[in-house]
Amino acid sequence: MARLLNAVAELVAAPARHWRKRREWEHFWSDETASAFWLSEGAQEPVRQAVREGWITAGDKVFDLGCGIGQTSAFLASVGCDVLGVDVSTAAIRRAGESYA
Ligand SMILES: C[S@@+](CC[C@H](N)C(=O)[O-])C[C@H]1O[C@@H](n2cnc3c(N)ncnc32)[C@H](O)[C@@H]1O
Repeated sequence: MARLLNAVAELVAAPARHWRKRREWEHFWSDETASAFWLSEGAQEPVRQAVREGWITAGDKVFDLGCGIGQTSAFLASVGCDVLGVDVSTAAIRRAGESYA
């Protein structure tokens, strides 16, 4: 019974947690001066390396989940990939569109 109640409590809490995280990301991306250790000018080095070494090649279909402001998606599109970038933050998607659309 306790396990069932815990499962129900988790089901009820999950949407609230999702919306809280979404608000946090929206807040982060709404501030154009915000910085973070993982935020880079262009695509992240591991992605560049994957292209250099042929793990990702022109024509590949790439789903960039959590694409942020789109640097990685734009880089992969520039090497010929067919990219779909998706992000929970509308501010991030707006900025990606302003930069790369
Ligand atoms: C650590 S950031 C990385 C952003 C980008 N890939 C980069 O390298 O700059 C994580 C990204 O995931 C997004 N995100 C978090 N949860 C998400 C979800 N459930 N669905 C889609 N995007 C999500 C955030 O808005 C944020 O842009």
